Amino acid sequence: MFDLATRRIIGATVFTLATVITVGMVWLTEEQRMARYEAMHKGKAIENGALLYEQYCATCHGPNGEGVPGKGPDLNPGVFQHYEELKRTQNYANSLRNFIKLNIAAGRPIRTTYRPDEVYAEVMPTWSQDFGGPLRPDQIENLVEFILNWQTGAAMPTPTPAFEAVGSDLTKPLPPGDPKRGEALWNQEIKQASGLPASCKACHSLEPGVVIVGPSMAGIATVAAQIIQSPDYKGQAKTPEEYIRESIQQPNAYIVEPERYAAAPGVSKMPANLGNQMSAQDLADLIAFLMTLK
Ligand code: HEC
Ligand code: HEC
Repeated sequence: MFDLATRRIIGATVFTLATVITVGMVWLTEEQRMARYEAMHKGKAIENGALLYEQYCATCHGPNGEGVPGKGPDLNPGVFQHYEELKRTQNYANSLRNFIKLNIAAGRPIRTTYRPDEVYAEVMPTWSQDFGGPLRPDQIENLVEFILNWQTGAAMPTPTPAFEAVGSDLTKPLPPGDPKRGEALWNQEIKQASGLPASCKACHSLEPGVVIVGPSMAGIATVAAQIIQSPDYKGQAKTPEEYIRESIQQPNAYIVEPERYAAAPGVSKMPANLGNQMSAQDLADLIAFLMTLK
């Protein structure tokens, strides 16, 4: 039917196509694998940072960064405010991440004029081994990740003046939710009304049984329906939607059984301030998206 030369060309074309498709598929799954790895890495970094913070920093800065009189200033929101102030008044050009990192790594061997009215018994110690302190560079990175995770809509200069946070009020009426937009928020393809990216996927996988920091969201609509029926459940929710809503706005209303996500006791908690970062529409959309995961 075909002469030899034509057959060779067809053969070569088929071979090339097959290679392109195979490489393309490997590349695609590699992309997904990398994204998952990065999310998992970030969640773990926050969790490690929380443990280090508890061990080395809480005595002077308070367990939740609220500060300890006579020992150390509040970091939450102090460090975010201080950074904004330096940018405004000193033309400070470094990023927030680097500002926090440098302060931890090198310490403040000399008391600065920040919060001049407060007197602290000791100076901020040097923490990084690079500067003669006790912690490795990766531990410093974990601490930075943990502190950055405190950022709330309230602590930051409001990016969009019209933004109204839904906060922790469970009775506030929500507009109809759009699951597609919820998914885009989840995937950080778009930002919340606050201008901050949704941080959900840093801690929650969508794959069954994969624990990053919090439980997997695979089948959460079904799981939520089971939880509200369980005698251990002490929250207010009557429907799966309400349960998901409560988990986001008032995460401490019911703490998920630790065995479901292999938690380190006392550390792995949902951040309590997520409602301050999102509008009622963002919340409705995230709930609508999670309700599609049956
Ligand atoms: C012995 C008490 C003490 C300990 C322990 C301590 N700090 Fe501090 N820290 C301070 C003091 C005091 C200051 C304010 C220094 C100044 O006035 O310049 C400070 C400042 C800071 C700042 C800069 C705050 C700002 O707004 O400019 C950061 C960030 C910080 N500490 C993080 C940490 C972390 C993370 C740890 C744990 C690894 C830690 N500190 C442990 C006492 C402490
Ligand atoms: C820093 C990590 C972290 C972030 C960020 C985070 N969560 Fe969570 N989440 C957790 C942990 C840990 C739990 C389980 C403990 C608890 O109930 O508080 C949880 C529980 C939940 C639950 C209940 C799950 C169940 O199985 O009962 C829902 C729903 C949820 N999170 C949704 C979200 C959404 C939506 C976002 C983003 C807006 C988000 N989370 C951001 C850590 C996180």
